[in-house]
Amino acid sequence: MDPLPLHTIIWLVCWSFWLFPFCASSGSHLLPDKPLSVGSTITSDDGTFALGFFSLSSSSTKHYYVGIWYKNIPEDNFVWVANRAMPITDPSSATLAFTSGSNLALSDTKDTLLWTTNISAAGNSSSEATGGKAMLDNNGNFILQSSHGTIIWQSFDYPTDTLLPRMNLRITHKTHALQRLISWRSPQDPSPGNFSYGADPDEFRQRFIWNGSTPYMRGSIWNNNLVVGQYVESIKSTIYYRLQPIDDEVYASFGLPPPSVALLQMKIDYSGKIKTRVWNSNKSKWTDLWSGPNHECNKFGYCGPFGYCDNTLPIVTCKCLDGFEPNNKQDWTASRFSQGCHRMEALTCGQGDGFLNMSTMKVPSQFLYVKNRSLDECIAECTSNCSCTAFTYTNMSIDAINGDETRCLLWTRDLIDMEKLIGQGETLYIRVNGLSGTVYCFCFSACAVRYTPLFAGPVELQ
Ligand SMILES: *[C@@H]1O[C@H](CO)[C@@H](O)[C@H](O)[C@H]1NC(C)=O
Ligand SMILES: *[C@@H]1O[C@H](CO)[C@@H](O)[C@H](O)[C@H]1NC(C)=O
Ligand SMILES: *[C@@H]1O[C@H](CO)[C@@H](O)[C@H](O)[C@H]1NC(C)=O
Ligand SMILES: *[C@@H]1O[C@H](CO)[C@@H](O)[C@H](O)[C@H]1NC(C)=O
Ligand SMILES: *[C@@H]1O[C@H](CO)[C@@H](O)[C@H](O)[C@H]1NC(C)=O
Ligand SMILES: *[C@@H]1O[C@H](CO)[C@@H](O)[C@H](O)[C@H]1NC(C)=O
Ligand SMILES: *[C@@H]1O[C@H](CO)[C@@H](O)[C@H](O)[C@H]1NC(C)=O
Ligand SMILES: *[C@@H]1O[C@H](CO)[C@@H](O)[C@H](O)[C@H]1NC(C)=O
Ligand SMILES: *[C@@H]1O[C@H](CO)[C@@H](O)[C@H](O)[C@H]1NC(C)=O
Repeated sequence: MDPLPLHTIIWLVCWSFWLFPFCASSGSHLLPDKPLSVGSTITSDDGTFALGFFSLSSSSTKHYYVGIWYKNIPEDNFVWVANRAMPITDPSSATLAFTSGSNLALSDTKDTLLWTTNISAAGNSSSEATGGKAMLDNNGNFILQSSHGTIIWQSFDYPTDTLLPRMNLRITHKTHALQRLISWRSPQDPSPGNFSYGADPDEFRQRFIWNGSTPYMRGSIWNNNLVVGQYVESIKSTIYYRLQPIDDEVYASFGLPPPSVALLQMKIDYSGKIKTRVWNSNKSKWTDLWSGPNHECNKFGYCGPFGYCDNTLPIVTCKCLDGFEPNNKQDWTASRFSQGCHRMEALTCGQGDGFLNMSTMKVPSQFLYVKNRSLDECIAECTSNCSCTAFTYTNMSIDAINGDETRCLLWTRDLIDMEKLIGQGETLYIRVNGLSGTVYCFCFSACAVRYTPLFAGPVELQ
């Protein structure tokens, strides 16, 4: 016989000793006749997450919020905030309660509505919710259920600054809006800050951190549509990153395969850094598995056109692509890189141009995706078009989104926002003048593409 699941054991214990405070206080449910007020919380069945009112102790004016946090992590533990832009200033009789329309609503002493689930906006009718209940599940998802148990609203559909395992972030916008993680304003202020993280609206394979509406950092381009893993020694498990079509949209998610119970999250912090991190319970601190940007040079376009950020150097800095030189040598030596680089030898097109390959690269932004091509066909596509300046190729071989297992990317303009990475990235083939005497790889079928299942991380949700 299988061992009893933990919640069953807790339930049995609670049943036998129903006055025991652990059982009597905070269940995982919020019921119509039991509103939540300051000081009380509900807790997920396994005790990982709590939902309730909180304030940030070090802030001068005390503002209160309703949010979800890791119950057993003492600090930097919030994963979701309901009323992030509408703080409670007078908590004395603020409540989170069911309304007559079966929504959940947060209101303060003056009966000001500060936040609501607004289930009709989500396309669900309030009649479905009548007699419903709300519960916090073991994944940290706050779920409003109808009396039949169907989900009519869930916090996972309304991300704030944190992506948790089993949450899906929408990265296309055919009929729904794109979703983004939006930073806090400061460590003490959960109101929406300047930085956000999500897919490029024009191209779901590419993700950005934005500072306002300006690109701040770009993730590498997804080169695998299914599952990619990143082994993490400290938790002896492999994190997966996944793109998944659900209904008419594509969603990104990540997580750890069972039986791992490590607490994992991806967060955009107030300073614009995106982090994938795991809770180290032995050291009682977060360990960053990946974070970025970590250098000025990792920021979007920092090295200018045809320049790249070389992360393999002891002092991470910008370099020109091979065969290129700085547009302004003085600026370049003074570490002003924005003007970028130019070719030393003009292209001749058709008269022996070749491709110079650079491995482990974060390939440039602004690509053209040519579908359904073999490697040879991808090379031919670039070779035959004089405006093609570079290409990269990946055979994704399995399970594709949009019915295509190939990824032939071409660049026809300036090459911007490249990085030389350590132990990840892919081979970029840059068109060069083959008559200039340098040794280049003339890439026709002779050139095998080394297949690197990228994924480095979270912007490796990146
Ligand atoms: C609920 O959503 C609808 C549609 O988006 C909007 O018009 C309405 O103002 C919202 N109600 C509340 C109370 O936020
Ligand atoms: C109802 O709510 C669920 C959960 O938030 C959501 O997935 C769904 O799209 C909503 N709309 C309809 C019409 O079911
Ligand atoms: C956010 O952007 C505004 C201008 O859009 C700027 O004044 C402010 O300093 C920025 N805040 C942070 C925290 O970067
Ligand atoms: C973000 O943009 C604002 C201007 O909109 C600028 O003042 C601020 O320095 C930028 N922050 C970073 C970290 O680049
Ligand atoms: C915590 O300590 C235990 C026992 O020493 C060890 O087995 C485990 O791997 C450690 N976990 C982490 C995340 O370091
Ligand atoms: C891909 O190209 C081949 C010919 O190169 C063609 O037969 C096939 O139908 C194409 N597939 C799609 C999905 O366009
Ligand atoms: C070359 O590429 C450019 C940019 O995508 C495109 O506009 C042009 O039609 C292409 N030329 C040929 C001959 O394919
Ligand atoms: C991709 O790789 C798979 C497995 O190696 C192979 O069967 C398939 O033909 C390749 N597809 C293309 C378009 O090169
Ligand atoms: C890259 O070019 C070198 C020669 O410069 C060649 O030996 C190597 O095989 C090429 N690598 C790939 C992946 O094409």
